Amino acid sequence: MLLSDKICIVTGAASPRGIGRATARLFAQHGGRVAILDLDESQAKAAAADLGEGHLGLACDVTDKQACLNAAGRVTDELGRIDVLVNNAGITQPLKIMDIKPENYDAVLDVNLRGTLFMSQAVIPQMRRQRSGSIACMSSVSAQRGGGIFGGPHYSAAKGGVLGLAKAMARELGPDNIRVNSITPGLIQTDITGGKLTDDLKAEITKGIPLNRLGVADDVANACLFLASDLSSYITGAVIDVNGGMLIH
Ligand SMILES: NC(=O)c1ccc[n+]([C@@H]2O[C@H](COP(=O)([O-])OP(=O)(O)OC[C@H]3O[C@@H](n4cnc5c(N)ncnc54)[C@H](O)[C@@H]3O)[C@@H](O)[C@H]2O)c1
Repeated sequence: MLLSDKICIVTGAASPRGIGRATARLFAQHGGRVAILDLDESQAKAAAADLGEGHLGLACDVTDKQACLNAAGRVTDELGRIDVLVNNAGITQPLKIMDIKPENYDAVLDVNLRGTLFMSQAVIPQMRRQRSGSIACMSSVSAQRGGGIFGGPHYSAAKGGVLGLAKAMARELGPDNIRVNSITPGLIQTDITGGKLTDDLKAEITKGIPLNRLGVADDVANACLFLASDLSSYITGAVIDVNGGMLIH
């Protein structure tokens, strides 16, 4: 049990096959009490109930600062503290550079980057009071290799922004004993691609992966567990690749 009695928030964790849901499940298995935040309240509640007793499901659009503050407040009121935040909520769009319209840019930057800022700002005061906390931010291999897998350039930009934001938060929050790290998954089989990833494209991508398979949500959840737990107590400002070797630095 790596998270005994730790209070953990995972954003974007209602999607049944998603990375956030797998992370919430693993955290609960390790003794954590989990608050699942997602757009739809009934789906968030159902996902929390699925984890067993003592977990919380809340509606929270991470692009809405007040919604983030409200959700963090509910978690502190009902569960007593906040030990872990996983900034997982994200969307992507497979667009070429000239096809990115202002509304595409806004949507992708808002959820992935603004959401990471707003939700972090919502938990930092409580973590500072506790003088402890761990924040894990979901970036992507797209930030490191300039996309070319599924998401467009605006997605690469948003996830690159997440890396910079997380490193800057790590520097500023270290003296408060709050650790901030990022995870850069490769291609993970979830529903984020909305059925637009063909078998041919999957086979083509797999050719470039030394471990010879696409990732599954639990591969990323395991890295989240490591960053959330005290196993990573001297790690902050780091970027953990979970990509099967697709990108080796
Ligand atoms: N699947 C991949 O290949 C892959 C690779 C690299 C990074 N990622 C990142 O991992 C994270 C999880 O992705 P996934 O593949 O599990 O996707 P998913 O679509 O299964 O889950 C994303 C979840 O985020 C929620 N969400 C969307 N907008 C939101 C908002 N404004 N506020 C709150 N919740 C919101 C959705 O409802 C959904 O439950 C994302 O940040 C994604 O960019 C995924």
